[in-house]
Amino acid sequence: MDANTSPLFTPYKLGRFDLSHRTVFPALTRTRAHNNIPQRPYATEYYSTYGGLLISEAAAASDVSQRCPNMPGIWSEEQMEAWKPVVKGVHDKGGPGDGQVLEKPTPQHLKADEIPCIVNDFRIAACNASNAGFDGIEINAASGYLIDQFSIGAKAIATYMANALSKIGVLYLHITEPREAANKSLVPIRKAFDGTLIASGGYGKSDGDSAIDENYADLISFGRMLLANPDSPTRFEVNAPLNKYNRSTFCTNDPVIGYTDYPPLEVAS
Ligand SMILES: Cc1cc2nc3c(=O)[nH]c(=O)nc-3n(C[C@H](O)[C@H](O)[C@H](O)COP(=O)(O)O)c2cc1C
Repeated sequence: MDANTSPLFTPYKLGRFDLSHRTVFPALTRTRAHNNIPQRPYATEYYSTYGGLLISEAAAASDVSQRCPNMPGIWSEEQMEAWKPVVKGVHDKGGPGDGQVLEKPTPQHLKADEIPCIVNDFRIAACNASNAGFDGIEINAASGYLIDQFSIGAKAIATYMANALSKIGVLYLHITEPREAANKSLVPIRKAFDGTLIASGGYGKSDGDSAIDENYADLISFGRMLLANPDSPTRFEVNAPLNKYNRSTFCTNDPVIGYTDYPPLEVAS
């Protein structure tokens, strides 16, 4: 399917944003934020290559400096200031940018009186993200982080949450399916949630096209592919080959290698 007939290249209205295509750059932790601060100019360069809805890598809502020294944070003013040029880079490229926020897991059972403090961490993180220019907040409820720790079975909680979040007008749900789900596990969630559904997990162009065509999801995020080909919407349009991703440089601390040095389309083709 070429760009003229590709469902991925049909426009979509996401709240106040008019998206020109339906591919999404999802949160990808890259561990390049020394001392939990996004590094200029590398992070700006990395994030400003893609044009479309972009979700930042997970940024911590409270101090993770001991456990994750190179994961960015969004709990302090210094971090908030460091995010500003990054978000501006995303906007200059024409995309809305959402910040993904998470709270670190807790090693012991939470006591009831600890919960307001966590809610307050998220509140401050959301204010900082808004002040940094982000258009929205995506809360990471996966990968063993705090909210995921409350899960009582992924399927049951996901459908319950989809229903509850629908009632409070959450703009979108972004769900990664395990590959063995064979792209069918989102059906009950789709039914339970009135907002936009972003599907993720092992997609390529042709099954992304099919998922949109079948109304399985509204938008598709491509993780590893966009990591290595931030210009892949353009590559899709002209049917250009894709760079292969290099897993060994996903989460190193190098500010360039495996981060901003994947060859762009003109050089690669
Ligand atoms: C290096 C790497 C870092 C990731 N970091 C995050 C993250 O910070 N938050 C998150 O929700 N998902 C994260 N993910 C998951 C991706 O956003 C995506 O859902 C997953 O890679 C499946 O999509 P794919 O098969 O197209 O790569 C990460 C994935 C990779 C490969």
